[in-house]
Amino acid sequence: MTSKKPRLLTGDTPTGRLHLGHWVGSVENRIALQDEYDCYFIIANAHAFTTRMDRPNEIRQSVIDIATDYLAVGLDPKRSIIFIQSEIPAIAELTFFFSMLIPYPRLMRNPTIKDEIRDKNLGDNYPFGFLLYPVGQVADILAFRPEIVPVGEDQIPHLEMTREVARRFNQLYCGVDSHTEDQDYLKKGGLFPIVNVKLGRARRLVGIGSPGPDGNLLKMSKSLNNAIFLSDDPDTIARKVRSMYTDPKRLKATDPGTTENNPLWIFHEMFNTDQKWVEEAEERYRQGTIGDMECKKRLIDVLVELIEPMRQRRMVFEKDPGQVLKVLQEGTEKANVVAQETLILAKKAMQQDYF
Ligand code: TRP
Repeated sequence: MTSKKPRLLTGDTPTGRLHLGHWVGSVENRIALQDEYDCYFIIANAHAFTTRMDRPNEIRQSVIDIATDYLAVGLDPKRSIIFIQSEIPAIAELTFFFSMLIPYPRLMRNPTIKDEIRDKNLGDNYPFGFLLYPVGQVADILAFRPEIVPVGEDQIPHLEMTREVARRFNQLYCGVDSHTEDQDYLKKGGLFPIVNVKLGRARRLVGIGSPGPDGNLLKMSKSLNNAIFLSDDPDTIARKVRSMYTDPKRLKATDPGTTENNPLWIFHEMFNTDQKWVEEAEERYRQGTIGDMECKKRLIDVLVELIEPMRQRRMVFEKDPGQVLKVLQEGTEKANVVAQETLILAKKAMQQDYF
């Protein structure tokens, strides 16, 4: 791997299979960027232990599932590196040093951490490691010194912390002036780039269910049971779309309906390649001259066309878990070369290179 392409790093905590929210948030970006960048995709299994430390077998299965999904959706191990976080010792070592560069109150102000404590009902019973995980994520990223990190909007606070740690490290240990512009840190002798976020085309995808207590549609998530998975078969997709929440005030096809905040139309706008049809159908929906069922049928076709090739590829890999593990092993070996190199440079900058 001596290519001159800039690096890209991103990944997922293995919590289950990938769904359409992952697709528009980050995964479709990854596939498109595989030629332009040297891509590193991390399966963050250690982070799964922050909330599921009592279920190691489930985490193990999730790692295999997500790796299988990666291959099924088109991450290509010939061009890209897919690897397992806990097999990269340099990440753990960097986490320790980086944790010194983040004030504790700063961590507690991280909105993603706050949201997770609320949404997962963690109360004040979360483990110490839960607060450590964003620092670990900083290390996941900086170990590979990437140029860009494609993620969904919920990850922005972690990326902001990554940028802060990189600036601080470069200032403290590489003698870079604190007035330096972000894009100039490397030129001025810094070790770590100030990474750029690349958001997906959807800031957030809603699920297929009814709104939450505050009236807002909930985001698509496995735990909320409102997801369409990239591994769903056509019958499952059809069943889910037919049960999809739409305009509750619209009881028959001749009632005027509202297309706003209506998952049926959010999905059509997001996934249907025939946007001319979508525009016209939305107009008819608002006037009450087209039925829900017709629009749902159309959406089923659109989603099956997107997902079915992925599911077909997935079945091939499902039958051959040995091949999936081999991809992970080879990826992890290559990832370790880069991360180890970063660790050596970081220790040198910190004057902790003794022998
Ligand atoms: N926290 C991310 C998530 O839950 C997963 C993740 C771990 C990640 N390390 C990363 C994403 C590094 C981007 C870069 O989805």
